[in-house]
This record gives sequence, C-alpha cells and structure tokens, in this order.
Amino acid sequence: MADKLIIFDTTLRDGEQSPGASMTRDEKLRIARQLERLRVDVIEAGFAASSNGDFEAVQAIANTIKDSTICSLSRANDRDISRAAEALKGANSGRIHTFIATSPLHMEKKLRMTPDQVFEQAKQSVRFARNLVADVEFSPEDGYRSDMDFLCKVLEAVIAEGASTINVPDTVGYAVPELYGQFIKTLRERIPNSDKAIWSVHCHNDLGMAVANSLAGVKLGGARQVECTINGLGERAGNCSLEEIVMAVKTRKDYFGLEMNIDPIHIVAASRMVSQTTGFVVQPNKAVVGANAFAHASGIHQDGVLKARDTYEIMRAEDVGWSANKIVLGKLSGRNAFKQRMQELGVVLESESELNAAFARFKELADRKSEIFDEDILALVSDESVSQDKEQYAYVSLSQHSETGERPQASVVFTIQGKEVHGKSDGNGPVDASLKAIESIVESGAEMVLYSVNAISGSTESQGEVTVRLQNSGRVVNGVGSDPDIIVASAKAYLSALNKLQSKADRVAAQG
Ligand code: KIV
Ligand code: ZN
Repeated sequence: MADKLIIFDTTLRDGEQSPGASMTRDEKLRIARQLERLRVDVIEAGFAASSNGDFEAVQAIANTIKDSTICSLSRANDRDISRAAEALKGANSGRIHTFIATSPLHMEKKLRMTPDQVFEQAKQSVRFARNLVADVEFSPEDGYRSDMDFLCKVLEAVIAEGASTINVPDTVGYAVPELYGQFIKTLRERIPNSDKAIWSVHCHNDLGMAVANSLAGVKLGGARQVECTINGLGERAGNCSLEEIVMAVKTRKDYFGLEMNIDPIHIVAASRMVSQTTGFVVQPNKAVVGANAFAHASGIHQDGVLKARDTYEIMRAEDVGWSANKIVLGKLSGRNAFKQRMQELGVVLESESELNAAFARFKELADRKSEIFDEDILALVSDESVSQDKEQYAYVSLSQHSETGERPQASVVFTIQGKEVHGKSDGNGPVDASLKAIESIVESGAEMVLYSVNAISGSTESQGEVTVRLQNSGRVVNGVGSDPDIIVASAKAYLSALNKLQSKADRVAAQG
C-alpha cells in the first residue's frame, strides 16, 4: 500500500482563533465544502463545547460534508467530550480530538494540576471519548516543551485507551526542524505501542518555521498526519500553511515519497474564500497563493520561462487553480453560464433563491464593470453570504460629495432589520464621512482597529475589496465588502462588521 500523508485542516478551529477571524455558521459551511472539494482527509470544524455558535457550526458541517472526516476539538473533560460527540452525530465519519497540556509550565501555571492528575485525566478522557466514537485523537498541548519521560508515559497510556491518532503540538512555535523531527522520532521509538497510532504534527509559525518543522516531523520523525490551515491562518504568526505543505510534498515527491488525497486545483479558490471571508489579505509574495507567486518580472526570468517553462518554474500555476486571471463573463452572459462558472469555481449556492440573488448582483456588477473575472465572482458570492434578509444591517445606497478645499459629506441609506434608515455626516475624507454616517444611526461605539483596501483584479476598473476590523466589549470582528466604488465597498464592509459584532453579542447572550 502507498505510504500516505493525511491532511488535517484546522482553518475552522485553530485558524478561527485568530483575533478578528471568527466566522458565522454559514461561512464555515461554505469553507468546509471547499475543503471537501480539495479532498482534505480531516476537517476540524470547531470546538463544539466552546459556544452554541461553534456547536451549531460543527453540527451543520457534520450533517452536510460526507467525504471528509469531521472532527471537533474538546478539552479533556466529560462535558466537552459529550458536546463534541453530540455535534458529530450526523457525520459519516466523526472524530473527537481531545487535549490537555503536558509541559511543566502549562501544568503548573495554567492548569494548576500535578503531572499525576494530568496523566489520570488524559487517560480517562480518551477512555470516555472512545465509548462515544471510534476515532479519537489526543494532543498533549505544548507537547514540544514537555518532559520526554512524562510525555512517553502519557502517550503510551492514551494509546492503550484507544487513541488512534497522536498529535504533537509545538503550541508556541518554539521548535526548529531538525530537533522537532528528532523529537517525534524519539517518541515513536521509545513508546512501546507507538505503532498502534498514526503520528501527527501541529506546528505554529512564531519563528516562521511551521512548514519546515512539520515537514521535518514527517521526514525525520515518521509522522503521517499534518495539521494545517489555508493561508496559514491562525493566532499570532499563524499555523502551518496547507498549500505550502501540499505543494512541497507533491513537488518533491522524489524526496518525501508520499501520496496524498488532495486535489490541488482547488487551492487558489480555497485561499480566496478564506481571505475574503475573514478579511485576512494574502501577501503578494506568499508561496503558492500570493498574487506574485507565479509572476516573473525580471527580463532574464521572463525570457527563460518563455523558452522553457521549467527554467524558473517548479510548479504550474494552473495546477493549483490559477486561471490566468481570465475574463469569464460579461453583461450579456445568462443565468446558466453564471451558474456553470460558479460550479467550476467550486461555489455551491444552497437554493434557487440564493442563486437568483447572486445572479441579480452579478448583473448589477456587469452593468458597471465590462469584464468580470473569477475573482469578481468569488467576491460577489462572498458578499452574498452576508445575506440581506437574515442580517441586522444591509446596505442600500450611498451618495457623497468631496471637492478640493471642502470637507467631504456623505449620506448612506441602509436597513436595520428590514426598515430603511438614512444617515448623514461629514468626515476627513469620503470614506470617513460614509462610515460616520452609518455610525450616526447605529451608535455602536465600536473602535476601528484596521481598515484596508485591496484591488481584486489589478486595474483601476477592478473591484475594491475593503476589510474593516472593529473591536467592541472585548470582541474583535472583520467585515469585508467589495464594489467597483471603494466608498461603497467601505460602507458594505462596515455594515458586515457590525452584523458580525451583533451576531457575536447574540451568541454570547444566548449562552447566558
Ligand atoms: O496548538 C495547540 O496546542 C493546539 C492544540 C489544542 C492541538 O491547537
Ligand atoms: Zn494550535
């Protein structure tokens, strides 16, 4: 049998832990569908016991996604584990991923538990979880900074209790490749029943080595599962990036000699979707999914690539889903062409009414922009996820006036629970005036901690994609909006962020 590397995606759990990256249930479901299309083996859909919202998201994904294993994280206690099992009931293949910290620092300062207590709790939790589901993964949190003898004792015990995957997190991104690879190897050699489990790596990117460490864990340590996120999304400097791991293992098959289930053609669409949903823009020089990843600017490189592609290219852009920014549709395109293009881009709209609404928005955009690119369509459906009738606030129209030497004025029309309202304000610039006009009605008092504009497809004809990050009462959310008019895009992004703040507040209230 071919030696296989399992790809475990945790964009919807560890990725979502990044401040501002929180996603709604529907957004998570859409990303989960894209991960299934990508043929990810395991999707960590959330942390079911952490909130009602997370429970519902894990449940919805478990009920919908049938080709990937669906996993929920859970602390090592009966309540969390039962919640995870409950959320996973509808899954074809469900996994509980339970964890407890094992490093001296975490046990003493965070858990205030003795090593013996942690040992007992780890064992009991895996036993409890195994009575509820067949597939249990165990992680010793801060595993890489744990004492080797103690870690061997805990891991041997949880394997004996039935954990079939052992994940070794470098929780704080402290590892370096050779040492991390050796660490996994030593664990596997020293633990007598290590062959009863699949070994997994989970690396954070604080020193920029998450991908290198994970690959060392695979090559030197013999791990056969990598935990990663799309675009490397995650707290602080992020997690190991899925696209980089996948393309490294694929491009250097001569060295790694491993098979994967992944279909890389869906990588770029997944990257766009995660970036548009969370508002975390991908840096242009990011490997595989950055806008410049396959762009050759120097004359010598261009000449070489034209003569023989492999002079400077080790992967093909089209293999990871770059469609050469081609014009796909225009104002005369019909509903069927639109629907088919959406399917080719891997976007599934839940119902005919969602398709009709997206098509209406496409027509509206095509009236204002002659060439519609794939990126425009993805932005359009991304906006569509902020479905007008379900949300508290929805954009209607905007007018603004700015002239050299005069203070800009804006007036914005939007709805609050379906009822139209008009806000007016001046401001330092037209964007500032427009957002103040909204705030004059909503009075959220939220603090703006980030505002960024990105041109979706290169030229001044492009749509602007705006990200607004708001903070209020300890909650941080990102809103994203796109439109050929960046002032309109800004107003949409602001309303989308307000909707997220509102839904987070509702979720907190629902939990009492
Ligand atoms: O980084 C970490 O330790 C984790 C565990 C909960 C697996 O994310
Ligand atoms: Zn982590």
